[in-house]
Amino acid sequence: MSSVIEIDKLHVTYRVGFFRKVVQAVRGISFAVEEGEIVGLIGPNGSGKTSTLKVLLGLVRATDGAARIRGIDSKQPKSRAELGFLPENPYVYPYLTPREFVDLCGRLSGLDAATREKRVPAVLERAGIAFAADRPVRRLSKGMLQRTGLAAALVAEPSLLVLDEPMSGLDPLGRREVRDLIFEEKRRGRTVLFSSHVLSDIEALCDRVVILRKGELVTQGTVRDLVKRSATLTELTLRNLPADARQEVIGTSTVLRELGEELVLEVSGDTPLATTMTKALAAGAKVTSAVPRKDSLEDLFVRNALHEDTPDAAKN
Ligand SMILES: Nc1ncnc2c1ncn2[C@@H]1O[C@H](COP(=O)(O)OP(=O)(O)OP(=O)(O)O)[C@@H](O)[C@H]1O
Ligand SMILES: [Mg+2]
Repeated sequence: MSSVIEIDKLHVTYRVGFFRKVVQAVRGISFAVEEGEIVGLIGPNGSGKTSTLKVLLGLVRATDGAARIRGIDSKQPKSRAELGFLPENPYVYPYLTPREFVDLCGRLSGLDAATREKRVPAVLERAGIAFAADRPVRRLSKGMLQRTGLAAALVAEPSLLVLDEPMSGLDPLGRREVRDLIFEEKRRGRTVLFSSHVLSDIEALCDRVVILRKGELVTQGTVRDLVKRSATLTELTLRNLPADARQEVIGTSTVLRELGEELVLEVSGDTPLATTMTKALAAGAKVTSAVPRKDSLEDLFVRNALHEDTPDAAKN
């Protein structure tokens, strides 16, 4: 059986401005999303997340390669028969209320009046916007718009949800509610692909993550595997390190803090740790502590975002 989503050596190139300057937003990425999975797409601003999702939605054309939904090329509208989408900035007609907008979306998806009468209030409730369901949309806050967009994505009960930054603009409680809602969708057997900058949400929710940088796929896997695969970090505290030995001891480590005589370094990997400690001791410094730090997804993300070449870069 084919995957629910297949991104196959996808390239997206935009041409901008008078001189049709080429912007390569996506440069040959491949990954798949299987039935019932929650997959998170993460990466710094401009790394190509929205462009990738837009190809799935048929809003942007692949310059090369392809995106397929249940084996059907996303160029064909029928590939989206069972897809619910939340855009990055949901556009909701300003003169409608959330109730009217969600009802309209249900109608466009082919739901009959009786079904909409039941579903619309239920999804408004689930998305946490029922309390403002009858206010004109132009009076809603960003978070309230986001929730309206989410209700619209859910109204047809699609088996696949594609959500671009579903937690953006939400307060911590709202984020928690949306997180629970995504989990509940998974429990109902739905497949979810979403993009986010909020790493703790990705860590808590996803079966797998795909990390993009500058349009390329840096790495993918389960959160646990990615974190395990990345280097072990140690917080090393040194005292009385002579100034003339400083550069040599610090080497490629990161200076985390410096307080009086105390210098705290972040050292990556076991061999560099041994080398740094040996050099520090030889220079006459004291090693006051060496605390191993569990790498979080955030460390991995920041490292991937900052450095051009990561050892585990799996580009395809
Ligand atoms: N319509 C467009 N025309 C020209 N360039 C575009 C267009 N949309 C996106 N880009 C460019 O493509 C690159 C990738 O953008 P994209 O929106 O896919 O990134 P993103 O990962 O979703 O970023 P963010 O985290 O900020 O939402 C960026 O350099 C962006 O400027
Ligand atoms: Mg985006």
